Amino acid sequence: MTDYNDLIFEISRPGRIAADLPKSDVAFVDLARKFPNHLIRKTAAELPEVSEPQLMRHYTALSNKNFGVDNGFYPLGSCTMKYNPKINEDVARLPGFANIHPFQPAQTVQGAFELMYELQEDLKTISGMDALTLQPAAGAQGEWTGLIMMKAYHQANGEGTTRTKILVPDSAHGTNPSSAFIAGFDVVEIPSTKDGTVDLEELKEQVGSDTAGLMLTNPNTLGLFEKEILAMSEIIHGVGGLLYYDGANLNAIMGKTTPGAMGFDIVHLNLHKSFSTPHGGGGPGSGPVGVKSFLAPYLPIPQIEKQEGRFMLNANYPLSIGRVKGYYGNFGVNVRAYTYIRTMGPDGLRQVSESAVLHANYLRDRLAPYFTVSHAQFCKHEFVLSGIKQKKLGVPTKDMAKRLLDFGYYAPTVYFPLIVEEAMMIEPTETETKETLDAFADTLIQIAKEVEETPELVLEAPHHTPVKRIDEVQAARKLVLVYDKSIEK
Ligand SMILES: Cc1ncc(COP(=O)(O)O)c(C=O)c1O
Repeated sequence: MTDYNDLIFEISRPGRIAADLPKSDVAFVDLARKFPNHLIRKTAAELPEVSEPQLMRHYTALSNKNFGVDNGFYPLGSCTMKYNPKINEDVARLPGFANIHPFQPAQTVQGAFELMYELQEDLKTISGMDALTLQPAAGAQGEWTGLIMMKAYHQANGEGTTRTKILVPDSAHGTNPSSAFIAGFDVVEIPSTKDGTVDLEELKEQVGSDTAGLMLTNPNTLGLFEKEILAMSEIIHGVGGLLYYDGANLNAIMGKTTPGAMGFDIVHLNLHKSFSTPHGGGGPGSGPVGVKSFLAPYLPIPQIEKQEGRFMLNANYPLSIGRVKGYYGNFGVNVRAYTYIRTMGPDGLRQVSESAVLHANYLRDRLAPYFTVSHAQFCKHEFVLSGIKQKKLGVPTKDMAKRLLDFGYYAPTVYFPLIVEEAMMIEPTETETKETLDAFADTLIQIAKEVEETPELVLEAPHHTPVKRIDEVQAARKLVLVYDKSIEK
């Protein structure tokens, strides 16, 4: 039987053809007259030669090895891997959106500009902000953009060199301190109290005339809502600092409250989390940034505006931090997010948050007797378990995560947040059924029993995936970057 694990080059045989190409309708060019000799290929390109069914089976087999939200539950905490409705794809593929070019004259792309304008307006309402840019291509780029605006604001007030510190709670998303560092600030970590929220006394100790601002992830990476936001707001604003809201976890609060109402000055959103657009290996994403009106002059240019019923790009903002992304952001992603927002409507988005929170609390309560729950209080859209009990029995969290793969689940985020030992961060999202949540809970409970009764089964997992356990040290230290047939697959 043919092994669909073979590379396409291994099943190649001379003369096999998968598709007939039409005769070239381009005039012959004598390359020797155009390019230096050493740049001209002397032998034919080595391309695989396979039949159409072979081609079909090869790529179908490869796609079946891939795991995504379309073929299974993906409880990856902090990533909001929810189902992406297919209507988003239909709309993004409409020729009027898919076949336009960023250099087209404004009068020929009014529909695209209108969509971006309307999306900005919707996101302003959802976040409680006065002005917004769609340019940043990821959450982390949004953070950097917001911080550079913060810097520009302090500079304009003559405090650019003195306000050098960004306060970041230890329960923040990991990109927060990184973005602050890359934006040229000194990062001051604020510890959490025992209940998992920001230690206000410590915050008061750390603020001063050198505070540029506070970056708050809310709900934080423990899945807990920071209740003392008004007190934090007073402390930071009281010393002239600004409040930055990491709004990537908006899935928990949409339609309930807004960062603007909490007193925040800058917020970024992750459209590829809360607004059901695909996550793609670090991109393309979209991390729009909203600001209160006093920061609007610093937003990236060009801004999309509506004047006398027409939509246009306006780059006439002398205080702007400039462009942060080519053209206007990831337009295709923005079309998908706009479609999602308009299909859901305000009530639908509120329901998303209610269900996301309900699902997380349900799953947490089912698992609590078998693992250690990081914090006892009601959680928002995600929660953190600790595998400390299982580690004491000789099976660390990473092995339980690998065992989950045998049952067809993507593993939760593990060893993050760093403040919980043996962390397992689970985000079920609102798009899963009760049956899926129960089946996942049953599986994790079974794994907890295996840890007690047959630990080797877990320690040697996964048993049923195309690639078994790899030697992670060798994989990092002895990189093999070129295909070598002699190496065992
Ligand atoms: C809370 C939070 N902030 C920031 C980010 C960074 O977003 P991105 O991965 O798009 O850079 C994430 C990503 O998951 C996140 O969950």
